[in-house]
Amino acid sequence: MKTVIAVYTGTGNSLYIASRFKDAEIHLVEEFLNGDYVLPESVDSLGIIFPVYCVGIPHPVKRFIEEVLGKRDNSELGYLFAINTNGGMKGHANYQMEMLLAENGLRLAYANSIRMPDAYLPLTRKFPSQKEALEMMGKEEEKLAEIINDIETNQIKLPRKGLFPHMVRKITENANRPHKKNGLTLSESCVGCGICEKICPNGNIEIVEGKPIFNDKCLSCYACYHRCPEHALKYKNVKGQYKGLQETSKLFRR
Ligand SMILES: Cc1cc2nc3c(=O)[nH]c(=O)nc-3n(C[C@H](O)[C@H](O)[C@H](O)COP(=O)(O)O)c2cc1C
Repeated sequence: MKTVIAVYTGTGNSLYIASRFKDAEIHLVEEFLNGDYVLPESVDSLGIIFPVYCVGIPHPVKRFIEEVLGKRDNSELGYLFAINTNGGMKGHANYQMEMLLAENGLRLAYANSIRMPDAYLPLTRKFPSQKEALEMMGKEEEKLAEIINDIETNQIKLPRKGLFPHMVRKITENANRPHKKNGLTLSESCVGCGICEKICPNGNIEIVEGKPIFNDKCLSCYACYHRCPEHALKYKNVKGQYKGLQETSKLFRR
């Protein structure tokens, strides 16, 4: 039984959920997009695990469905499931996922969601420590165990539609476009260690002459802010970082 999980993650929450599927092969959405991983023709079960962004789907996940899944022969692709991680306002992101998959010739069999700590700087001021994050996760562990069991036994569960799904989707897709401005400023404490460059899921940061340069592919996940060992990236008067449930090095892309 071959299960592959495609995961997109900024701060590590979604990767943590993916890692709980013991027998699955886990690949980052970026690996599919840049051709480092090619999905085999025949897969028993494919999962997509993603964070909810602006009550919708992050742009790279949309690209993965359109540019990778939508362009291959999926006749030997078995059970298809999606799990979103969210900060408590999941909207109908899973229904958007179902619509997007259907437009690309795929039928979603199961969708669910897990609430996790939210590290989105413009809306959050206090971030849980790793210990607090694990405690918070404790409340969701039972649900996660049920979800894993549902998926391993190929249960069917489709998402709710919500109101005005097409209109909401259009708005969220616009909000989730890659951009340059993210409100971050670089302070003098930057030592040019390059962790921000390695951790950015969108390849948006380059170290030039020992300092990070931000390009225009930012999705405001703020992984760079949260994992900067010198706290050299500043966002207004926000203090503290979200270290998530993953070691920093597990999130390195390069
Ligand atoms: C740009 C951005 C937008 C977000 N929008 C929402 C949202 O609309 N609703 C919500 O519940 N959580 C939202 N969140 C929180 C994330 O969905 C949540 O923290 C998720 O678990 C992060 O997963 P990751 O660590 O795998 O990236 C947002 C986070 C970011 C970075």
